[in-house]
Amino acid sequence: MVSEATPDGVVRGLPATRVARVADLPPGEGRAFAVAGEQVAVFRLRTGALHAVSAVCPHRGGPIADGQTDARVVMCPLHGNTFELATGACLTGQRPLSVFPVAEEDGWVVVGG
Ligand code: FES
Repeated sequence: MVSEATPDGVVRGLPATRVARVADLPPGEGRAFAVAGEQVAVFRLRTGALHAVSAVCPHRGGPIADGQTDARVVMCPLHGNTFELATGACLTGQRPLSVFPVAEEDGWVVVGG
């Protein structure tokens, strides 16, 4: 299990893990990965920005990686609750998503660390 969220809202404690080549993540879409037992949804936005949040919606477990995104938010495909990708905050009254560190290193998407 991962550590508590730090004051900046990012959950640290996952081992830094290469989950995919950046080129294999289509811009504007998300993919779900298991990282040290944690289900993580990684989004590569059309701007090129990467975000990693919990892949499981806190409302009723919907698949966040399948949600529609814009430059700032993801909408859960099951009931439409909307979450800020940078902070995990829910804009529609549900509990927040966890947010994980994510970076590009040598053409790979690295989650955790
Ligand atoms: S399960 Fe995500 S909004 Fe209901």
